[in-house]
Amino acid sequence: MSPWKNVPVRSTLTTIAPWAALLALSSLAGCDLWPADTNPFTTVQPSTDFGHAIQVIYEQVTWIVSIIMVVVFLILGYVVVRFRDDGKPGNPKQIHGNAALEFGWTLAPVFIVIMITVPTIKTIFEIGGQAPEGALEVRVTGKRWWWAFEYMESGVVTANELHLPAGKPISLLLESDTVIHSFWVPRLGGKRDLVPGRVNRMWFTIQDEVAENAEPIEYLGECAEFCGEQHARMRKRVYAHHPNDFAEWLEAMKVPTKIDDTNTAAKHGEELFSGTGGCAGCHTVVGNAAATGKTGPNLTHYADRHSIGAGAALLDGKSPEERTALLSQWLRDPDSIKHGSTKHANASRATDGMNLPDANNDGLPDLTEAEVADLVAYLMALK
Ligand code: CUA
Repeated sequence: MSPWKNVPVRSTLTTIAPWAALLALSSLAGCDLWPADTNPFTTVQPSTDFGHAIQVIYEQVTWIVSIIMVVVFLILGYVVVRFRDDGKPGNPKQIHGNAALEFGWTLAPVFIVIMITVPTIKTIFEIGGQAPEGALEVRVTGKRWWWAFEYMESGVVTANELHLPAGKPISLLLESDTVIHSFWVPRLGGKRDLVPGRVNRMWFTIQDEVAENAEPIEYLGECAEFCGEQHARMRKRVYAHHPNDFAEWLEAMKVPTKIDDTNTAAKHGEELFSGTGGCAGCHTVVGNAAATGKTGPNLTHYADRHSIGAGAALLDGKSPEERTALLSQWLRDPDSIKHGSTKHANASRATDGMNLPDANNDGLPDLTEAEVADLVAYLMALK
């Protein structure tokens, strides 16, 4: 005897109801339950025209599939109830072929696919086309494991923190010097890979409004393509400024930092940085004639940064003492904050981050505590 014999309709409904509720809840995930200020990685609160174009497609497709789901469930529910085992002996009436039905279920999916394909392809061409004339061009280079940002016109270079003007078209030229990375700042829009040997492009205009002299809006980003040991700590921060504030920031970045003569620790740190500390070979600091290295992140105005090690540790919200302690640890033992950051004496990791002098090859730089303190004083004076 069939186990479904005379199963009451009500028990079927009580089985389905919790699942339907769960489904409804999960589709609500696309709504305002996850506001951007507490969920910086939300993918459904776009802040750019580029992100918005993708969002429109996403919403259209969600509506289409939701309607299909409801229709399918209604038909399924009807069939389950209408044709359930009625307990009578013998087979029910058999049916063979139905031309209208077969045409219907062939044409309907074709129509659905066209409804999804046409706007999708249209959007792909829209957002993949040429950036508008006069867009701010920034070259983004994926490194292991940090980001280099170069403002093409002004030549200003920074690392891991990208400052941009709101309301102006921005064109990113995405490159990598070693392995494939992926640029992903969810609120700016979709991902774009950074592939060695080619330049990918992405352009957008930030539509969030920022008042003049107001705090910039911060958008968080990650690397979205597995690129090695510290892929998870290859973060970036994008700051949207009022255009006038951005212009000011860009000008300020060109102004060399002059270390105050009274700050003897920083002065000594500067000497160390440029000389025996070995920092200048890899890092550039505008205003420090010796520091022109390109291997490591550009450290111009380093003291204004919000995090260290591409977001591996936060400087934001920390007291000067805590910042000093964190930077000292970063110099003394970078591996304790971001493993694989130093290349030590291992030549095969030459493209990695720091290259601190390590004559005895113990994995720790040959700096005394006093020297570390001076270097930190120098870094904290770079603003
Ligand atoms: Cu770079 Cu993952």
